[in-house]
Amino acid sequence: MKFNAVRGAITVSENNKEEILLKTRKLLLQLIEKNGLDLQAIISIIFTATRDIDAVYPAVAARELGMTSIPLICCQEMHVKGSLPLCIRVLMHVQLEDDRQLQSVYLEKAVTLRPDLMNLTIAIDGPAGAGKSTVARLLAKRMGILYLDTGAMYRAMGLKVLERGRDPRKPEDVIPLLPDTDISVQLDEEGQKVLLDGRDVTDEIRTRRISNAASDVGTIPEVRQKLVEIQRQIAKKVPIVMDGRDIGTYVLPNADLKIFLTASPEERARRRWKELMEKGIKSDYDSVLQEIIQRDANDSNRSFAPLQKAEDAVLIDTTNKSIDQVIEELVCLLNN
Ligand code: DC
Repeated sequence: MKFNAVRGAITVSENNKEEILLKTRKLLLQLIEKNGLDLQAIISIIFTATRDIDAVYPAVAARELGMTSIPLICCQEMHVKGSLPLCIRVLMHVQLEDDRQLQSVYLEKAVTLRPDLMNLTIAIDGPAGAGKSTVARLLAKRMGILYLDTGAMYRAMGLKVLERGRDPRKPEDVIPLLPDTDISVQLDEEGQKVLLDGRDVTDEIRTRRISNAASDVGTIPEVRQKLVEIQRQIAKKVPIVMDGRDIGTYVLPNADLKIFLTASPEERARRRWKELMEKGIKSDYDSVLQEIIQRDANDSNRSFAPLQKAEDAVLIDTTNKSIDQVIEELVCLLNN
């Protein structure tokens, strides 16, 4: 006989008896089903509820499911400032005949408690310079999950095309290169490395010339199909924050949270110009602005998976907001 324990959590939409019992039942049934448990396997269950829940004991739902001889107890969860409200947590102790791996169950808004276990996907789209990569990186860090910058993959393709002396605007120049092109990413908590045919091009792809080439190759459906397939495979395996142009509309249409970040073209050009200056790259503001406007048009007017806000994405204009303000807004959206 092996002893083990499994965790779960769920949120309720309001503090009323029916809702609490309904959601607790849903959580218990999923824990039982997912882990192939029968009632005899359950030794005891501890329930906790956040302090905003007091209409009924969640354990009543367990009794109603026939768990009449299992020791149950309900406690109040410690209150931590800013934590997820209206949440019921469960810790179930079980005895098993075998070595099976037990699976936790986090449902409704409680998926944000353990995004690593629940394969959370967050899509952040928007035009160049809206702050996507900074926001996506910081949000991923805050959630303890990985961040994938899909733009870097288009940049790698742009680099390949330029290195071969071809024109990134011409499909007949670009498409024949695809079968021999290997673009992959290495992700870890520290960031992302982009490999082009096995070569690390992470730093090389951050030039204005490559930005424009990336935007051009991104208009070619065959390029998108190849890169989107890689992006979807990554999202299947790990919880992730992904940023790009078509993540919420095309790459991950079922993402748990979709954000469309934007800012005025002037503000975005100002940020890019400042970034370039800080890197010691002399640039003139007007030409940076023109490039931003040209890239917006390129990315938004292409026929296949253009840059656009998904219907269910939350629009956030970052023009007058600090990065911290935007992150707090996103964490709030995930918790509510
Ligand atoms: O996010 P970025 O500036 O690194 O992206 C470079 C270009 O790549 C962008 O102008 C359009 C293209 N791109 C795309 O078409 N789809 C994505 N998901 C990401 C980037």
